[in-house]
Amino acid sequence: MSSNHRRLVHDPEGFNSATWPLRQDQLVTPTDHFFTRSHAASPAVDPDTYRLEIDGLVERPAGLSLADLAAFSTREVSATLVCAGLRREEYLALGPLPGELPWGPEAISTGRWRGIPLADVVRSARVAPGARYVQFTGLDCVERQGRRFGFGGSIDLAKVDDVLLASELNGAPLPADHGFPLRTIVPGWIGARSVKWLGRITLAAEPSANYFQTRAYRVQREPDPTNPRDVSGGIALGEAPLNAVVLEPLRDQTVRAGAVRLRGWAMGSGGRAVTSVEVSPNGGVDWVPAEITIPGERWTWSLWEATLQVPRGRHVLAVRATDASGASMPPGVAETWNVKGYANNAWHRVTVQAE
Ligand code: MTE
Repeated sequence: MSSNHRRLVHDPEGFNSATWPLRQDQLVTPTDHFFTRSHAASPAVDPDTYRLEIDGLVERPAGLSLADLAAFSTREVSATLVCAGLRREEYLALGPLPGELPWGPEAISTGRWRGIPLADVVRSARVAPGARYVQFTGLDCVERQGRRFGFGGSIDLAKVDDVLLASELNGAPLPADHGFPLRTIVPGWIGARSVKWLGRITLAAEPSANYFQTRAYRVQREPDPTNPRDVSGGIALGEAPLNAVVLEPLRDQTVRAGAVRLRGWAMGSGGRAVTSVEVSPNGGVDWVPAEITIPGERWTWSLWEATLQVPRGRHVLAVRATDASGASMPPGVAETWNVKGYANNAWHRVTVQAE
């Protein structure tokens, strides 16, 4: 990692960290710049005894060793992994979010993932009638509500064709912190469904009952007065929303007055193409188009650039984007605020001083 970049660590145990500023000169994030979001320590998985269990509504349950998995063919997919907590710190202007990590715009990275199409593994187990969801459970050991269990979550069976059981990131075996030896990559969805250290795949008629599907990663707009931190009545997050961020200039940076270059990333929701990126020199009153300089692939961000005339003084620069679904980004965080502070895709603003 070059000296221009540093590692931001968001928790005392050091499971959650990211590199800042983000790289904006290439589509793919180098592995040593990748963000890490884990709810417990990375488990040491022994590749010799590792088994991927497949059970539930299947006609042929299995426990596949790495040698068994090597018989499946693999493919490579570029995908941007984005944490649902990205940009949570902007919600803090509206009040505290106790117990939640104050991620800025850094909880996002793009990798080239190689792995087995999940559909092939599921097909080999022969899906039984009634299966509608694919549940994943990791081999880590998270503690919540006095219980210890593996992190988990589920996706709709209809999403199965997009998903990879990845064993490689950027041409090398998955590092321990990113899920060695195998993780799911659910492109276009929030990072929480891309379960690391994958130990079990369960086909079921219902979504996962795992804590991280039923009690976290849900958008609940109104707090429950009797239990204000509880989001079990909210909507489970699936697709990550359309989003765009200014990476340059940095927040509170002093820039030279005149033509100021802005750069950043934009990504459509659920694999949809970004159709426009616009930047504003005055906090969202006027807008001018930005140019996509490094176009993304289906499941990745795109990198954009624009130049704004910025006179002397303090200014709020902003970015917003639209995507092929017709979705746009809301002007402010009051419109997206939710109890656990997820999925912030309000116009992204940075304040700069021009001299
Ligand atoms: N998988 C397991 N087993 N345990 C976890 O804590 N965190 C999830 C997901 N998969 C997690 C997990 C979350 S919230 C995110 S955003 C991504 O992993 C982060 O992946 P990364 O650490 O490789 O960047």
